[in-house]
Amino acid sequence: MSDDSSSEDIIKNKNGLVSIPKKKDFRQHAHCNPLSSVSIPYPFSPSCIDWSLNYPLKYNPQNTKNNSKLYLNTVNYPITYHNEKYKPISTSNLPNNLMDEPHVNIVDIGCGYGGLLYNMSESLNDDDLAFGMEIRDKVTNYVGEKIKALRINSDNKLYNNISVVRSNTMKLLLNYFYKGQLDKLFFCFADPHFKKYNHRKRIINKYLLNDYSYLLKKGGRLYIITDVIELYEWETFMIKQNPCFKEISKEECEKDKFVDFMKNTNEAKKVIKENKEMYYSIYERVNPEINSIQELYNTVDFTKED
Ligand SMILES: C[S@@+](CC[C@H](N)C(=O)[O-])C[C@H]1O[C@@H](n2cnc3c(N)ncnc32)[C@H](O)[C@@H]1O
Repeated sequence: MSDDSSSEDIIKNKNGLVSIPKKKDFRQHAHCNPLSSVSIPYPFSPSCIDWSLNYPLKYNPQNTKNNSKLYLNTVNYPITYHNEKYKPISTSNLPNNLMDEPHVNIVDIGCGYGGLLYNMSESLNDDDLAFGMEIRDKVTNYVGEKIKALRINSDNKLYNNISVVRSNTMKLLLNYFYKGQLDKLFFCFADPHFKKYNHRKRIINKYLLNDYSYLLKKGGRLYIITDVIELYEWETFMIKQNPCFKEISKEECEKDKFVDFMKNTNEAKKVIKENKEMYYSIYERVNPEINSIQELYNTVDFTKED
């Protein structure tokens, strides 16, 4: 549970509102190497995470005061994971009681400045919790501070269902969630990593798709959008090779309100300004059922060249 006594001071402007942070104060080099071994603290398994730190009002609706301390896993806003509560991931299938309490079911991979999260917050169902994961430290601080300001400025009524953490999802996604926990996974304007020797840094690849299929529940959806046709074709090729995903028809895709949200992220706005095209698709998690990490790594032929 959060330590109420250590909530930070809240500074309001002359209108009585907390100022929304400015992106220019949080700029960071656009690319981080997801394969480097920079050590970011991480939970040893999903059982080591206290989610009430990220969504205080969803866990303790009465706690409307002193709930604004940030836990982002960044240098300024660290998290201490309860790694003494480690349970091996192979035995970390959905615990029976998980569905009865608030739990993250929507994840935005590489959320950048968090546009998708703010866009979707008001239209989520009561028990949805959306979570942004971002590798860059300062950018994560921006999103965390913005969510905090938006919550306070709405008198704690809005934006309680979105949160963010600093993490390298290419290495650590499975440490955060149980098998079949997620309804939606978003990949919006992923870094294209154009050069062939950098393709292994692409966040959608045949290996990681197995992790994504493991985390999505049956009927869950994987969303992709990009302005780079070459990346779109690569992602499409990788996903179509994986038997756990089936493409949703374009017609049905247009009916999904989340498509509008992802056409409006921070990166999407730049694309619109530059009059460029956006390419997007949705895939549904279908059979075969993946029952273990072992099985997961057996679903795709890893011996074939890309
Ligand atoms: C081009 S930006 C897109 C940001 C956002 N999705 C949007 O649409 O505005 C890609 C983001 O993914 C983040 N990223 C890249 N690799 C990552 C990784 N392995 N784990 C977490 N975030 C990552 C980058 O730092 C960057 O913020």
